[in-house]
Amino acid sequence: METQIRPIRAEDLTALVVLAQQTYRAAYGHEMDSAALSWHLETYLSRSRLHEMMQHDVFLLAEQGAQLIGYVQFGATQPTDPPADEVEIRRLYVLPVAQNQGLGSRLMKAALAHPQVQAAGRAVLGVWHTNTAAQRFYARFGFVQIGEQPYLTQAGDIAGVDLLLCRRQIQD
Ligand SMILES: CC(C)(COP(=O)(O)OP(=O)(O)OC[C@H]1O[C@@H](n2cnc3c(N)ncnc32)[C@H](O)[C@@H]1OP(=O)(O)O)[C@@H](O)C(=O)NCCC(=O)NCCS
Repeated sequence: METQIRPIRAEDLTALVVLAQQTYRAAYGHEMDSAALSWHLETYLSRSRLHEMMQHDVFLLAEQGAQLIGYVQFGATQPTDPPADEVEIRRLYVLPVAQNQGLGSRLMKAALAHPQVQAAGRAVLGVWHTNTAAQRFYARFGFVQIGEQPYLTQAGDIAGVDLLLCRRQIQD
């Protein structure tokens, strides 16, 4: 069945919550205890949080038939003075059953071709330090590491680091 990539609509919120939580759980659930996982889902991927993010971020969905199977989310980085000439690719997730078939690459290409990303001088993202498959994937798109950022648990402990990657848009 053909997979379509399209912008999100307001009525996709319920399906997005399911997809975002399911893909996060599949990617990182085995590395966390259930309390830490629940806290992350509630803090970052709850219905209200995703609804709020939909107001300012771009979400592109991969849809097969009536089912969402992947998504990419991007938007402006935290406001700085002067404003940074960059966009942040905040999330890129594909359901495990649909991985390794080129869908992640299609979502990334769609994001990089988006006018908001094209208009920015660079794209940045964070990738979990143990996620070598995603690091390989991003390197293929020209992302290079520029730093790292600690991930804090609910208790404020450092659970690991996100590698900060950057891609200059000049190479398009
Ligand atoms: C990272 C992620 C988004 C990549 O999506 P994907 O759909 O698997 O990506 P692709 O299929 O385009 O490319 C991945 C692999 O498939 C290969 N591939 C690409 N097109 C292919 C195709 N048509 N057929 C078979 N294999 C293909 C790539 O060479 C790559 O191989 P690798 O193992 O050597 O890296 C996905 O694996 C994912 O959701 N992971 C969990 C969440 C995550 O880590 N997100 C990013 C961190 S924030």
